Amino acid sequence: SASGGRPPRGLDFEPVAPNTADAVTIPAGYAQQVVIRWGDPILAGAPRFDARAQSAKAQARQFGYNADYMALLDAPRRGHQLLVVNHEYTNEEIMFYGYVPAAPTREQVEIAWAAHGLTVLLVRADDCTGRLWPVVGDPLNRRVTATTPIRFTGPAAGSDLLKTTADPAGRTVLGTLNNCGGGTTPWGTVLSGEENFNQYFANAAAVTDPVTKARLARYGLPTGASQRKWELFDDRFDIGKEPNEPNRHGWIVEIDPYDPTSTPRKRTALGRFKHEAAEPRLTPDGRVALYMGDDERFDYLYKYVSKHAYKKGSSRAAREHNMGLLDEGTLYVAKFTGDSPAAEIDGTGKLPSDGEFDGSGEWIPLASGSVSHVPGMTAAEVYVFTRLAADKVGATKMDRPEDVEPHPTTGRVYVALTNNKDRGATGKAGPDEANPRNGNKHGHILELEERRGDASSKSFSWRLMLVCGDPEDPSTYFAGFDKSKVSPISCPDNVAFDPHGNLWIATDGAALGFNDGLFAVPVKGSERGHVQQFMTMPKGAECCGPIITEDRILIAPQHPGETDGATAENPGSRWPDGPGSIPRPSVVTVWKEKRR
Ligand code: FEO
Ligand code: CA
Ligand code: CA
Ligand code: CA
Repeated sequence: SASGGRPPRGLDFEPVAPNTADAVTIPAGYAQQVVIRWGDPILAGAPRFDARAQSAKAQARQFGYNADYMALLDAPRRGHQLLVVNHEYTNEEIMFYGYVPAAPTREQVEIAWAAHGLTVLLVRADDCTGRLWPVVGDPLNRRVTATTPIRFTGPAAGSDLLKTTADPAGRTVLGTLNNCGGGTTPWGTVLSGEENFNQYFANAAAVTDPVTKARLARYGLPTGASQRKWELFDDRFDIGKEPNEPNRHGWIVEIDPYDPTSTPRKRTALGRFKHEAAEPRLTPDGRVALYMGDDERFDYLYKYVSKHAYKKGSSRAAREHNMGLLDEGTLYVAKFTGDSPAAEIDGTGKLPSDGEFDGSGEWIPLASGSVSHVPGMTAAEVYVFTRLAADKVGATKMDRPEDVEPHPTTGRVYVALTNNKDRGATGKAGPDEANPRNGNKHGHILELEERRGDASSKSFSWRLMLVCGDPEDPSTYFAGFDKSKVSPISCPDNVAFDPHGNLWIATDGAALGFNDGLFAVPVKGSERGHVQQFMTMPKGAECCGPIITEDRILIAPQHPGETDGATAENPGSRWPDGPGSIPRPSVVTVWKEKRR
């Protein structure tokens, strides 16, 4: 360890140097393996991947594109685990040779639909190393895509706002799109957030009703053609024809990975926004609290608290009860108040005179079950247009809330605020103590502590633990740790804890001239704030996952080769297959080699 003493448990690695290599770089003494890549067979009968002969039929049985959230769960077979992965979006330009963005073919569009969604995959765990082997064709394996039927549940299910020509009951939607971060529940289901769903829709300009128009605008729905032109192949992506279809996306999806025949659910009680993730924590009386970010500049941090308590055990009755926990509860939005004089928060990142960016906060209720707490909005409107509800109650506009993770033992909640180039710009919100830097390029990590440590509390205290960037930049802060000993870090996105309680941070869009990567930092003790880089990503890739266990570290380099002007013929990366290949978003396992 650079500080001279013994490294904290779980962190005895030599940090890797920032770089721009087209590779996954790991510390000396560690080994890596690609577990599964885009196009690899998942279901029985899936063909091998052939980049020049890909079809929608093949893709529906193969691993999807751009993995983001991952969960590794116990499997009902010894020596095996269940890997659940979502597939956020597609990069058509580098997926298809000869792709013409203005005129995609039907086959290309249907491949993209089949490459979205989720994968459930049984993997065999190697006894001696951290390797994982896919069990292709196992009956538990599953693909969910942009066309899989999904049921709406909770207080807004069946609302007029969710009705379309194809679904006059407003209770069943086809598919899940742009699944970003997620969470794993104590009852063994996986949650996945539908994030930038707006990009799939077209022609909001065709809507003339001013109320609907304002709602579409607040959610960033395109006024003209969409980037992928799906509206040319399915009317539901044309807002002029189906104005309610966008309302059916932007939810948290819950999937039971143990039942491949189960219908995934969109849980309306959790609100609709650009859902980044949903990480649960139990309250002292056993209810479930979920922390959720809305990843948009100047958008909000939310919390849901269930009405009923979680029931332990795997009995059918307990399972059915738990599957209802995310359908009835209260949805809150966060308001942060700084404790330093406003004049001391000058937008430069200079610490205020009390030495910390910190303060108190409150959770403002938006709706409970069928009761709205927001004047002028029905409960259904609060759930479907949650951003507008939060606007009305004076929530704090944050610097893009990404993943949120409660610490497994202390219960403190860590919020990744990735960046916000518009903070302090003309006509935009200026700095506040929770978002203290104008033009925030590198983001920060906020630590939130619920009153009495109770996840159902209505108030909390908070402090910034990290203000990211190059440690030589005076606007950075590493919890007071010696900045000469930390790794530069920019644009924190996904966060996770290892079994020792250290925080691991994956970055997306790091703006320091180096590729993205994975970092680890202790959150307590004398090493608090000692950020060290564990690995780096291939060119153009953000770091997703991550999962850190005693046996292995799993990450997903998402969108390798997504660089300016990249095409399949001339991609920005050739990872992982090497010279002559197109890039393939994959899942990678990394483990410490045993000393011989
Ligand atoms: Fe898909 Fe907010 O990252
Ligand atoms: Ca302060
Ligand atoms: Ca996480
Ligand atoms: Ca991101």
